[in-house]
Order: sequence, then C-alpha cells, then structure tokens
Amino acid sequence: MTSSSASHAHPKPARPDRNLAMELTRVTEAAAIAAARHLGRGDKIAVDQAAVDAMRKMLSGVDIDGVVVIGEGEKDEAPMLFNGEKVGDGTGPKVDVAVDPVDGTRLTALGIGGALAVIAVAERGTMFAPGSLVYMDKIAVGEHAAGSIDIEAPVEDNLKKVAKALDKRVGDVTAIILDRPRNEPFITAVRRAGARIQLITDGDISAAIATAKEDSHVDILFGIGGSPEAVTAACAMLAVGGEIQCKVWPRDESERQYAADEGIDLNRVLTTRDLVDSDHTFFAATGVSTGDLLEGVVFTGDGARTNTVVMRSHTGTVRFIDALHRFDRRDPIG
Ligand code: FBP
Repeated sequence: MTSSSASHAHPKPARPDRNLAMELTRVTEAAAIAAARHLGRGDKIAVDQAAVDAMRKMLSGVDIDGVVVIGEGEKDEAPMLFNGEKVGDGTGPKVDVAVDPVDGTRLTALGIGGALAVIAVAERGTMFAPGSLVYMDKIAVGEHAAGSIDIEAPVEDNLKKVAKALDKRVGDVTAIILDRPRNEPFITAVRRAGARIQLITDGDISAAIATAKEDSHVDILFGIGGSPEAVTAACAMLAVGGEIQCKVWPRDESERQYAADEGIDLNRVLTTRDLVDSDHTFFAATGVSTGDLLEGVVFTGDGARTNTVVMRSHTGTVRFIDALHRFDRRDPIG
C-alpha cells in the first residue's frame, strides 16, 4: 500500500460505534428466520443448529474483532458458538460477544410464542464469564425501580420497595418467574406477600427486558435461570436503564468445586456493571415466534418479515425494526 492510500484509509474505531446496531440486526434476523423454519416441528436441536449456523455465517462479515465470551448451549449440549471462538471479520473494534441464537429453543420446537434470536456486544474484557456454571439466581427491574432491589433481601422486602418506587400497592406488583421446581420458594414467597405472578415456561432474557418496558405488565423478575442469559440481559438493561443483580447458583458439588478452582465467589452479588462493565453495549433480538416483546417471523410468498429490537447503551437508543426480506434477491441464510 502506498503512503498516500494509507493516509486516505479510514481508521477502524477502537470502540463499537453506532453502525454496529444495523450489522447486529442482520445477524439476529438471519438466525430468527433460520430457526423459524423449524417452528413446531418438535426438534430442539434442529432449531438451535439452524440458528447457530446462520449466526456464525452472518457474523463472519461483521466489522468486529470479536471473541465469544457467552456462547449458549453448554447446559444441554445443544449446538453452539463456542466460548473463545473468534467471530467477525477481524478488522473492527475488539469486542466481547454474547450469543443466544435462540432463547426459547423448546418454545420454537413446540410452536409456542416468545422465542428470540439474541446477540450482545461490548468492549473486550468487559463481560463476566461464568464458564460452565450454567445457572444464576436473578432479580431485575426497570428504570423506575432501579436502585430499590437487593438480591440478598427477602422477596417480600423487594416487593415492598419496588411497590413504593412504582407508587403501587404490593398487591398490584407483578413478578415474572420461570416456572421451575427450583423457583418454587420464590413463587411461594410472592404469593405470601400478596403480589401477582406471571409464570413463564422459558425465555428470561425477554422477561428481564419486559420489566423495563414502558407501561409493562410485569414489574420484577425473580428466580434462577441461565447464566448466559443473565449477562446478555445485562447488556440490554444498561441500554434501557434497568437493573439486574445475580448470584451464581451451582447445581451440585462438582459445580461448587469448579467455582472454587476458577476463583468464582459464590457469595458475590453481581451487579449490572459486574455482569458487563461497559458504557458501549449493543443488544439485538429478533422474534422467532410471536411473544410480548416482538412479533415472530412471518414467511411471505417471496420472503419473510421480521421484527427486531436493537439497543445501544451509550445513547440509550432503542429501535424497533420491521424488515421485509426478499429471498429471490438475497436469501439471508443462503
Ligand atoms: P434455551 O432456549 O437457550 O435453552 O433457553 C431457554 C431458557 O428458558 C432461558 O431463557 C433460561 O435462562 C433457561 O432456559 C433456563 O434453563 P432451564 O430450562 O434449564 O431451566
């Protein structure tokens, strides 16, 4: 390269810039379309595999030097983008990448609403890496109740403080909880306090974000769900001004030992900033099947329609993008 062409070259940004939002939208759109082709066919692995392949392919053209820090799939040996895998074209800013090609593989396989294709990006070295510790205890609220939660306090105290922050009666506060036997104590405690509950079968990224939506039908997330989903949700919560607190939740003695070996403190409360310590997070999610947050993929005669939310924490911008894809001109998943 001559010195004159070098002087005209645009320097690559050191931080992810706003153009990345559109690139990430393309990635989740492709993953959602690929996964949606398997809607209701009863095959979770095929759902995940299609989304992972589409995501990996689309990521290879994105202008980032990315490393997957949060690669989903370890808990059930599903297809995945691996932790440590390099993604992007290697030329842009150095970033950590969290992927959940489908949050709600079971929902998709069963043809139930609420599944999303998700990606989040932040500067390199800023995301908490839970390794193979697959679950975290979580509590999350939107902007108006941020600062009033404490994961170490009893459920009832959190409900009272959130009610006060939202100027509601405790009886009108709605908690959203993953319906799992391990979350029974939360369900019992919320009922005892007299608050309302929305139980969900899957999808606690969407549930965390739901607490932060304007005029949301849910106010607080409680319960133990996936660790990758916690870090990914934190990237979105930084953009929408909400708060998430977590504690790693080991399933058994071997996970306790793993935490000790890796120097992960099981008593540590992980704040939103501990989960991702960045002022430059990006979060994109495209609906696979229609839920409260997003419409699912609709296949048309010559393509598909997608619905995506993309957020950037630096500006707090939240965009909803409806896209029409024409497969005869460009099939987003090839
Ligand atoms: P996947 O579709 O990626 O498997 O995740 C769905 C999900 O419901 C997450 O939203 C949640 O964090 C996690 O599973 C809970 O794990 P489990 O289903 O093992 O209780």
